[in-house]
Amino acid sequence: MKKIGVLTSGGDAPGMNACIRAIVRCGVSRGLEVVGIRRGYRGILEEDFVKLGSRSVANIIYRGGTILETARCEEMKTEEGIRKANGILQREGIEGLITIGGDGTFRGAVALAEAGDVKVIGIPGTIDNDVYGTDYAIGFDTAINTALDAIDKIRDTAGSLQRLFFIEVMGRSRGFIALEVGIAGGAEDILIPELETKIEQLCLDIRRSFKRGKKSSIVIVAEGDEAGGAFSIAQQVWERLRLEYRICVLGHVQRGGSPTARDRVLASKLGAAAVDALVNGMAGYMVGELKGEIAFTPLRETWEKRKELDSNLLRLVKVLAE
Ligand code: F6P
Repeated sequence: MKKIGVLTSGGDAPGMNACIRAIVRCGVSRGLEVVGIRRGYRGILEEDFVKLGSRSVANIIYRGGTILETARCEEMKTEEGIRKANGILQREGIEGLITIGGDGTFRGAVALAEAGDVKVIGIPGTIDNDVYGTDYAIGFDTAINTALDAIDKIRDTAGSLQRLFFIEVMGRSRGFIALEVGIAGGAEDILIPELETKIEQLCLDIRRSFKRGKKSSIVIVAEGDEAGGAFSIAQQVWERLRLEYRICVLGHVQRGGSPTARDRVLASKLGAAAVDALVNGMAGYMVGELKGEIAFTPLRETWEKRKELDSNLLRLVKVLAE
């Protein structure tokens, strides 16, 4: 293999730049030519390529976002789009492709590989951390620390004014962020898509907590919760308890910012492992980390299998709210 491409696709995640840096520098050290593809799969279709050398990735390890930019590309969901992308990759002589992102990114990679000759390796990069085959996706650690910083600040106000707060965190369809920040931020309760939200029970818990002498209460709501997000839940609780409350939706602040040390190290390890995999002739896998060890998972499994929440952590939420 002589030439590889790298792209970031879907939502950006802090640590993607550290991963691009690792891919470029490890690729160069292995004698490969490395091409950056801008704006995800759209960049293939629009032939938006940039040659990357070791110096082109200087001073990016600490930066959030992605220097390659990203996009969600509908055309790559069509046969026509896949055919066109494969033709362009072939013409460019790109034999290996490393794609950093979540399940949508991996679906695109598999479609390309199945319809052409390009060898693909995926790297999990999503703050949602909802990809099967890795304990942590790049960006998750930074996102939960950013959210936690905000929650701690809100706790100052909640405590001072004896208030009930509903804080909505990201997580399109999963509750990984909510669970971790719920534990780390000392939440009264967490509401996540994986568990049915029972408003009556929530009201009971809140009322009891104030009766036990608590002066404030923080409820973490995952944006994907089936009960409709923080505004709807807060309204339903108000109708029953008539307790003054405030809402804070953390939103995209959780996606930005300088990656934590943990995300930078993970990104560097996964980037290096992805290059090694391609050089060693592997293809069609996502490289992740399970129990501290590099692990390869067939790309299809990353979305066909479901990553489970830590049930022990889930149980702890209630116990620690006592
Ligand atoms: O997948 C990451 C994520 O941040 C989700 O948590 C969120 O629902 C979604 O992306 C938001 O996407 P966009 O930035 O396209 O609105």
